[in-house]
Amino acid sequence: MTMRNLNMKTGLTLFALISLIISGCQPQKSSIKPGEVWEDDNGLFINAHGGGVLYHDGTYYLYGEMKEGETYLPECNKSWGGTRVDVTGVSCYSSNDLFNWKYEGVVLPAVEDDPSHDLYKGNVLERPKVIYNAKTNKFVMWMHVDSKDYSKAAAGVAVSNFPTGPFEYIESFRPNAGVWPVNAAEADTTEGILARDFEGGQMARDMTIFVDDDEKAYQFYSSENNATMHISELTDDYLRPTGKYKRVFPGRKMEAPAVFKKEGRYYFIASGCTAWEPNPARSAVAESIWGPWEELGNPCIGEGAEKTFTSQSTYVLPVQGKSDAFIFMADRWNKDDLPDSRYIWLPIKFDESGKIVLEWHDEWDLSVFDK
Ligand code: DGJ
Repeated sequence: MTMRNLNMKTGLTLFALISLIISGCQPQKSSIKPGEVWEDDNGLFINAHGGGVLYHDGTYYLYGEMKEGETYLPECNKSWGGTRVDVTGVSCYSSNDLFNWKYEGVVLPAVEDDPSHDLYKGNVLERPKVIYNAKTNKFVMWMHVDSKDYSKAAAGVAVSNFPTGPFEYIESFRPNAGVWPVNAAEADTTEGILARDFEGGQMARDMTIFVDDDEKAYQFYSSENNATMHISELTDDYLRPTGKYKRVFPGRKMEAPAVFKKEGRYYFIASGCTAWEPNPARSAVAESIWGPWEELGNPCIGEGAEKTFTSQSTYVLPVQGKSDAFIFMADRWNKDDLPDSRYIWLPIKFDESGKIVLEWHDEWDLSVFDK
């Protein structure tokens, strides 16, 4: 090796070292590797399950279930295998490029010492989603809160002045108490779960929030004991349901809803109902948020498609600065070690008929949207 080569090599190593120090000692990532361990700026496993992303003022914020500690099977869940970990809270990570994530902390912590509180560590907190309300200048978090045996089936709401929290927990409720959905059939008002829950509000488990171009927001939640999805309009401050809601996909037993809009059409992705086990994803399209929703089947193709590449949807993330670029976000649940559940993020493609197509990629970056 010549002296010049040696100098060049030393220079490059020094440059790499300085870059690492500047970037918080973590090598910068430039791609997404579904299913691998994803590390944050501290080199720690990104812990944001059942998550969603808010884009605000040039930054992406990822929120999710912080899952820590032992995975166990409570006695009351033995019949269906519902393992769980104690609630730690909702975590937040920020990023400018969707590859490198800075840990912003637990923005809504569990409650350690009050067993009557919704967020008591022995209860359930799942699928948090945060939206920004321009009228109130508040960040509003919706989530599924539940009792250990999932019988509470309620929606929880928290609010913050900043995307990175702290979020103040407001309340939980079963949505739409005392109101019938806009499409209630005569029979629904006299028998069945909808009628049973009329007074106290409708069951709400897996959920997402979608904000439309006109800033109206909607909660999609698995209701009627997970048999039927409800779409429920939110008040202008995004803190409550307005009371206008609709039953969709009746009896189709869907969980894990994710919604997005492309060229004026509304798209929906969800899963079937098999606890932590993966199943074939569902998809649907509609010209109006209120439907009619046309089911498009499992959008996954290729090897692993029948189990959604061993994952379950959680959110669809619109990529900023690119037109019609959307990322399917999903969880690869590890029911025996829930904190080690991995993230499956894949680019969404569309076929000639406008149907959603999801294909496996070992590694990809945003240039897939340029093709
Ligand atoms: C499936 C849901 O989608 C998850 O959020 C979680 O509630 C599990 N069931 C619990 O088994």
